[in-house]
Amino acid sequence: MASCLLFMGVFSTMSLIPSISSESLIKLPSEGAMLGNRKIKVDDRVYCDSWRLSVETNNAGIWERIPARCERFVEDYMDGERYLSDSDVIAGFSSAFANNVKLGADGRDAWVFDIDETLLSNLPYYESHGFGSDIFNETSFDDWVNEAKAPALPASLRLYKELQQLGFKIFLLTGRSEYQREATEANLLFSGYSKWERLILREESDQGKPATIYKSERRQELVNEGYRIHGSSGDQWSDLLGFAVARRSFKLPNPMYFIL
Ligand SMILES: *[C@@H]1O[C@H](CO)[C@@H](O)[C@H](O)[C@H]1NC(C)=O
Ligand SMILES: [Mg+2]
Repeated sequence: MASCLLFMGVFSTMSLIPSISSESLIKLPSEGAMLGNRKIKVDDRVYCDSWRLSVETNNAGIWERIPARCERFVEDYMDGERYLSDSDVIAGFSSAFANNVKLGADGRDAWVFDIDETLLSNLPYYESHGFGSDIFNETSFDDWVNEAKAPALPASLRLYKELQQLGFKIFLLTGRSEYQREATEANLLFSGYSKWERLILREESDQGKPATIYKSERRQELVNEGYRIHGSSGDQWSDLLGFAVARRSFKLPNPMYFIL
């Protein structure tokens, strides 16, 4: 709790999110966890840092699992301050770009957000499932989604509110399915998000489509409706690439899993 408040103070998000409980934001681990006696071998640390860069830049292409030697590295990254800091710096660039957009008077200036590992953090789930080193278990992940208790990524919540104040229409474009709409809405509200323009989920006809195609098709629909997609934020390249892409795309970190 103390470290959480310290973090929030450092990045001055406190004043922007006055009504959010500490449960609904991801937190730095307790001091005990950070001072854990597990060590990463130096050559593993260097290798895994390079691996992470390749993943984030999409040089790695399709990958299924974290390399075994990097499991602890990913755990430290996700649980430590670096993940939050990386997210915060990216949100800062997003904000700087958004503040330079000249908005029209027609209410058609749009920003697209992904949900998982973008607005919401499933870190509490992945903490008990090997940080992406376990094979993905759809049943247990669906149970977690239904709990609707994923906390907000603090930097994303701050950006989200700022974009709304600037006058952007917010579209949420997620790989989650229609049957998860209720739980997803409940979770977004729980963690402090509100007043999105539209929540777009996979319909029956979207099942099995690569995310890049599904998301591009839905962005195209927005463009056809006259929306100007200035920015797009997502933790997967499949959130950002394809067609009808945003003028600027912002890739959030995610070394835990890859979605085509
Ligand atoms: C997946 O999760 C469900 C629900 O928690 C569990 O019953 C099942 O054993 C898991 N499957 C595997 C392969 O771990
Ligand atoms: Mg995502």
